[in-house]
Amino acid sequence: MTKSGAGVPAELTTSLDRAVEVLRSGGLVAFGTETVYGLGANALDSNAVARIFAAKKRPLFDPLIVHLADPADVFSLVTEVPDEARRLMDRFWPGPLSLVLPRKEIIPDLVTSGLPSVAVRVPAHDLARELIRRSGVPVAAPSANPFGRISPTTAQHVMDHLADEIDLVLDGGPCRVGLESTVLQMVPGQRPVMLRPGGITREAIEAEIGPIATLSGSGESKGPQVAPGQLPQHYAPAKPLQIVSHWDESLLNETAGVLAFGPHPLLESLPHTTGRVEILSRNKDLTEAAANFFSALRRLDADPTVQIIYAESFPTEGLGLALNDRLTRAAAKS
Ligand code: TXA
Ligand code: MG
Repeated sequence: MTKSGAGVPAELTTSLDRAVEVLRSGGLVAFGTETVYGLGANALDSNAVARIFAAKKRPLFDPLIVHLADPADVFSLVTEVPDEARRLMDRFWPGPLSLVLPRKEIIPDLVTSGLPSVAVRVPAHDLARELIRRSGVPVAAPSANPFGRISPTTAQHVMDHLADEIDLVLDGGPCRVGLESTVLQMVPGQRPVMLRPGGITREAIEAEIGPIATLSGSGESKGPQVAPGQLPQHYAPAKPLQIVSHWDESLLNETAGVLAFGPHPLLESLPHTTGRVEILSRNKDLTEAAANFFSALRRLDADPTVQIIYAESFPTEGLGLALNDRLTRAAAKS
């Protein structure tokens, strides 16, 4: 593959140039990251950021993550980086970890929903970082899906639901991690709080900085909203979804869609009587399951034979925490 500039394949150069132009002129660019596709705008331009909320039909009280090309850029946006945050940046950036830090005034209120803090991360995706670098501005980006619906992990997923709302999709291929970033609040002088489990596990964070507090890590947060963006219903398919702890023959009829962590004898023997079976990882590997999760959920949601989705809960360790969190929220409206 021919390369141009900083490792960008020649085939993508034209769309990258165009995407940079769109961002600089206040437009919306959807772009691939290692977690999910983001719907990006210049984070320093309130009007551009307002278009994100309109495109997604997202409530204004749900703040956005600001994406940077380089870890050092964080100092232009925040007033303080506690030691622990610095250790996490060294260890996990670029990567699926968003840090909530005290913000500088240059960030519009719309980005942070008026909060005194801003969430920042450096995506582990070359094309995404090149887009941000060449644009010359920090890029505010929520996941590129209509508010509350299933997150997109391919460019096609974005096109399926937001084609009319955005100026351009920069195709970065399928997302490697497949789950959103972990959001960790780091108020100086306070114990870090995990606001959303995600691509970097709690165990990995604690190995670096010691014990952290958890807000929604149990995957059972059905209560009222305790922090922005923690709405119980989120990542939701249009069809009802029910979480099961094990497979039972009585569930598996022709209108059932099955979202299974791994293989199971019942699923092997009954596929013809079941609407659709999605097995996330043949070896029950959480990393592989995470990468397939949102795509599989979309296929079940789109299959006309499926009327109800049964989803198997995940082990409560590692990425299983984030996966259970997404399942619980997907099930919340059922
Ligand atoms: O992996 C990801 O994080 C993806 C990609 C595109 O980077 N982005 C993403 O954004 O998932 P979004 O908007 O779907 O979720 C961002 C969440 C919000 O729901 C909110 O809970 C939290 O980050 N957040 C953002 N700013 C915050 C702040 N200042 N304080 C507390 N939480 C904040
Ligand atoms: Mg989202």
